Amino acid sequence: MSWKEELASLTQNRNNSSKLRFDEPLSKHNYFGIGGDAAAYFEVSTTGELAYVVQLKKRWKVPVAIIGRGSNLLVSDARYPGIAVRLIGEFNRLEFDQNRAHVGTGVSLPRLSKTAASHGLSGVEFALGIPGSVGGALIMNAGAWGSSFGDLVERVQVMTDEGELIDLSHDDAQFSYRHSGLKTYFCVTGAILNLTPGDAEEVANLMQNLYNQKITSQPFAEENAGCMFKNPPGHSAGKLIDECGLKGYRVGGAEVSKIHGNFILNLDNATAQDVLTLVRHIQDHVKRERGVDLEMEVQLLGF
Ligand code: EPU
Repeated sequence: MSWKEELASLTQNRNNSSKLRFDEPLSKHNYFGIGGDAAAYFEVSTTGELAYVVQLKKRWKVPVAIIGRGSNLLVSDARYPGIAVRLIGEFNRLEFDQNRAHVGTGVSLPRLSKTAASHGLSGVEFALGIPGSVGGALIMNAGAWGSSFGDLVERVQVMTDEGELIDLSHDDAQFSYRHSGLKTYFCVTGAILNLTPGDAEEVANLMQNLYNQKITSQPFAEENAGCMFKNPPGHSAGKLIDECGLKGYRVGGAEVSKIHGNFILNLDNATAQDVLTLVRHIQDHVKRERGVDLEMEVQLLGF
């Protein structure tokens, strides 16, 4: 029996919303719209199945990547030989208990933002315009407009490489700018967020204002993965790229946004190679002209 057969037999007899596909184009599952096929694409709906994926990984040495909603991801053009996982079902839970949100990591940030606003809870207004999942936001400590996701976190639940669920404190998660220590675990499964009670209308207005600012200063229409680079200390990566005259610079089907320098757009069937060549070009140029190193924020898969 191969790992694929084992995985197929697991999902055959289950009565849940999990979905398994083999030879699935990952370009369909990320916001860049780029990437080769994955040997398997698995939408996992229960913790038990997720633990089973851990066992498969160990026993068959099959690579596993949790791709979330694919919003901060550049996937290689080559075939991914393992299992790409998206969390659905019980990972989409979202419950409020006074000012606390109990949230699964499959929940989208816009849903979290809107639901918190409808409960008159402040803290995640900034997240309406970020298309990722709570899991990605925790791992990357996503942020905007001076707020970072990690600041809201009271507890985080993760699954270890042994398939065990453990509960971490805010400090255990080691949040810093666009970084956390959560990547060392197999998967982040949930969190408790501490929000601030406020007036529902005010929260909704702030959320809408931040969203409006985002859509006027950042590209929205074309496929992209959000900000490509982290802001170097004391600088805005987008401003540096802009000042170097790189807006509109193109490699193959990939182009630096003319609206905001820190976005790369897939304008015309760009390959991952086009994007990476453009990334290297930007990094070399900014280093030469301004003496600053740009570190990628977007995560790579399959390179
Ligand atoms: N600017 C330019 N030209 C550009 C881009 C920006 O002159 O092409 C200037 C702006 O006019 C502004 C300054 O640079 O004066 C900063 O720009 P902006 O407010 O857009 O912020 P940013 O530092 O470029 C950060 C986050 C964004 C987040 C915005 C809004 C990072 C890498 N980026 O961008 O997050 O949405 O602030 O708070 O931290 C992301 O992480 O994916 C992301 C998009």
